Amino acid sequence: MYKVQTFKDPANMTPHEEKHVPYIEAPDKVKKGEYFKVTIRMGKGIDHPMEPGHFIQYVDLYANYYHLGRVNFTPESKAEATLTIKLEESCTLRAFELCNLHGQWESVHEIIVEE
Ligand SMILES: [Fe+2]
Repeated sequence: MYKVQTFKDPANMTPHEEKHVPYIEAPDKVKKGEYFKVTIRMGKGIDHPMEPGHFIQYVDLYANYYHLGRVNFTPESKAEATLTIKLEESCTLRAFELCNLHGQWESVHEIIVEE
């Protein structure tokens, strides 16, 4: 059955979780309408393998349910991406990555937008 995975306990992640959960680096607060950078790494502490038989295929970034962008990877890529975005209101940034062997993984980052 298809299901989106994430870590079970953020204080005690397994190596499998650390490699797969997309780690979102972004400010906690930004100004409305001003560009800022969001970096997404797979994963945190342990890099996910990037080889022909096992690699991260893409990562998607959403503001709540609004799609902001997708970065596609090849086995020759490093599994990280930086997007420059702007927001109009506070939201939950949500990243989804797809591993060709281990399925889809999600993480979130709350962000406050100030006037
Ligand atoms: Fe994997």
